[in-house]
Amino acid sequence: MDLSDRLDDLYERHLTHSERIHWDYHDLLPWELGRSFSIEPWTAGEGTLSPELTLAVETALLTEVNLPWFTAGLTRGFDGAPLALKRFIRRWTAEEDQHSRTLEVFLLLTRNGDPAHRNRLRRDVVELGWDLPAEDLLGIMVYTTIQELATRTFYQNLARVSQSQDRNLARVLHALARDETLHFAFYRDAVAAYLERDPNALEAVCRVIPTFAMPGAGMPDFANRMHVVGRCGGYGLDEYVRQVIRPLLEVWGVFDHQVSRSVERDRLALRDHVARLEHVAERSRRRVGQRVER
Ligand SMILES: [Fe+2]
Ligand SMILES: [Fe+2]
Repeated sequence: MDLSDRLDDLYERHLTHSERIHWDYHDLLPWELGRSFSIEPWTAGEGTLSPELTLAVETALLTEVNLPWFTAGLTRGFDGAPLALKRFIRRWTAEEDQHSRTLEVFLLLTRNGDPAHRNRLRRDVVELGWDLPAEDLLGIMVYTTIQELATRTFYQNLARVSQSQDRNLARVLHALARDETLHFAFYRDAVAAYLERDPNALEAVCRVIPTFAMPGAGMPDFANRMHVVGRCGGYGLDEYVRQVIRPLLEVWGVFDHQVSRSVERDRLALRDHVARLEHVAERSRRRVGQRVER
C-alpha cells in the first residue's frame, strides 16, 4: 500500500474511533454548582481542589487555550502535505476546540483558582502565541506525537490524583485523555508509515526528541508549574521518560532499523540523551524516596 493510501486509512480509522468516543462538554460539567461571581465574589480558599491540583489544571488549560496558534502553525507546516494530513488537522482542531472550554468552565463552576488572575494569564498566553517546533513535515509529526502522548499521560495521571478530591474533574480529564489518545495514535502511525518507507527518516526522531518542550512552555512560571505537577500531579520527568519517550522508541523500532552512518551517529546521540534523562529522573526519585523515609 502506498503512503498516501496508508494515511487515508489512518484518517478514516480516526474518524470511526472519534465518533465512538464523542462527548459533549455540557454533559460532563457540574452546572448545579454554578454561582454568580458578581453576587458572590471569589475569595481565596474556595474550591474543591488543593492549590497544587488547581495549578496543574490551570496549566493544562493555559496550554489548551493556544489552539488558534497551534492550528495556524500546523496548517502552515502541513502546506503541501498529503490530503489526509490536512483533513486531520481540521478534524483535530474541531475536537481540541472543547478542551480549554471544558477545563475553564469546570474551574469557574467549582470556584477553583482566582478567575480574574487566570483570565489575565489566559490573555497573556494567547498573545504570546506559538511557533512551529520544526520546519519539516516529519519533524512536526514527531513533535505532535510526543506532545499528544505527553498530554494524554499527564491527563490520565492527573485524573488518578483528582479522584479523591473531585470526581467531576477526574471524569473531565478522562474524556480529554481519550481524545488525546486518538490524536497520538494517528500521528504515531503516520510517522511509522514514513519510517517504513525510509528508515533514514529516523533522523527526524533523533533531532526532535532531545529538544522537545511542551507547547505551553512559554507561559509565565512554567518551570515552577511543572515542578508542582511533578510533585503532586503525577507527571514529571520520570513519567515523561517511562510513559512517553521509552514507549515511542519501542513502537517506532528506533534502535532496530538499518540506517545510514550519519543517522547511526544521530541515534547514538539520542541513546545518550535518553540515558541522561533516565539518570536525572532516577536521582530525583531517590531524593524523594529519602525525604519520605525521613
Ligand atoms: Fe487537548
Ligand atoms: Fe490532542
